[in-house]
Formats: sequence, structure tokens, C-alpha cells
Amino acid sequence: MKKMNIAFFASHGGSNFQTIVENIQNGNINANAALLISNNSDCFAFERAKKLGVPYKHISSALFADSQEFQNALLALLEEYKIDLIVLAGYMRKIPQSIIQKYKNRILNIHPALLPKYGGQGMYGMFVHNAVHEAGDAISGATVHIVSEEYDEGKILKQESVKVESSDTPETIAEKVLAIEHKIYSETIKEIADGEIFLD
Ligand code: GRF
Repeated sequence: MKKMNIAFFASHGGSNFQTIVENIQNGNINANAALLISNNSDCFAFERAKKLGVPYKHISSALFADSQEFQNALLALLEEYKIDLIVLAGYMRKIPQSIIQKYKNRILNIHPALLPKYGGQGMYGMFVHNAVHEAGDAISGATVHIVSEEYDEGKILKQESVKVESSDTPETIAEKVLAIEHKIYSETIKEIADGEIFLD
């Protein structure tokens, strides 16, 4: 089976990026970590990419005269690296429609809640965990889904829940959920690489 070339998109820490690349490098996931892209030139994810030996590129719409030039540059970069699968891992920008169309059903995202709950524009990071805490939910969790035109509405590929105790704070919920993210993102990508999950 031809190994998929994966491009990762991250804006900040990159712990999901690192976890997946480690699973590729230890042989768990049969794929190539081809490229890391960030809109943030000093993101910590670049530090992780340097240590892991993954090529990384800073590309942001702010660097281009208009959105079309940015989209063309992004598409050219993805073609240059022969990308088969795009993995969003804490990427805080909307993916342009042209990319979503070109890579239809080939863009994944991880969301720190059990979608469709706590999804949609503005629901990311601590906003999600604050809302779960406010609501007094007994469980939270993470969701891997296909990226479609609308925020957080693509087909759900995997979800896993985690218990929320009354003693939990939004911060401890975030920690519990991040561990679930790391677990299910690698599981999902492994299953795609092994042909157990078929991206139609
Ligand atoms: C995670 O909380 C994830 O749910 C969200 O962005 C964060 C990424 O964290 N998409 P990291 O950059 O992978 O550490």
C-alpha cells in the first residue's frame, strides 16, 4: 500500500502533531510526516518539527496581497510535497474553500469536545472546556472529523469520552481531553493508513 504523505497544520503548541509523528516514526502509523505548516512563525510546533526532523513552513494570508495569492501558494506547497492527507492539529485559521474542494474528504480535524455538542465558530480551546464546566456535564471528550465547508460539521470518524468529576476545573478537563485527543487522533490516522477507515 503506498504510504500517505501527511501535511500537518498547527498554530501553537503542536502536541497533537508531535504525538502523531512519534507514532509514525515508531512504526505504529504507516505514513510519511511530510510537512508542517503554520500561520504563526514562532509557534512551538516548529520547535517540535526541528527535533523530529519534519520539514516546516510558515505560510500566512498576512504575507500575501490577497486571499487568492495565499490560496495559490498553499496549494502549490501541498502539491510540491505530494500531500495525500491534511491533518489539522490546533490550526486556528479557516481552511480556504479551494483547499477543501481539492482535498475533499482528505482533511481531518480534532475537536476537544463530543461534537455536535460545543462545536461551531468560536468554540475552541478553553472556551469549550469552560462551557462544559459551566454546564456541569458528567462527561466530555474529543472528536476526529472530516473538515467540510462549515466549522465542525464534517463526518465524524472517531469520538471518545472521558468522565468529568465535580472536582474538575476547566484546566483539568482540558488535560483529560488532550490525552484523549492524542489517543484517538493517532488511532484514526493509523486506521486510515491501514485501510480500515475508508475516506469516501
Ligand atoms: C487542542 O486542544 C485541540 O483540541 C485543538 O487545538 C489544541 C491543539 O493542541 N484543536 P496542540 O497544539 O496539539 O497541543
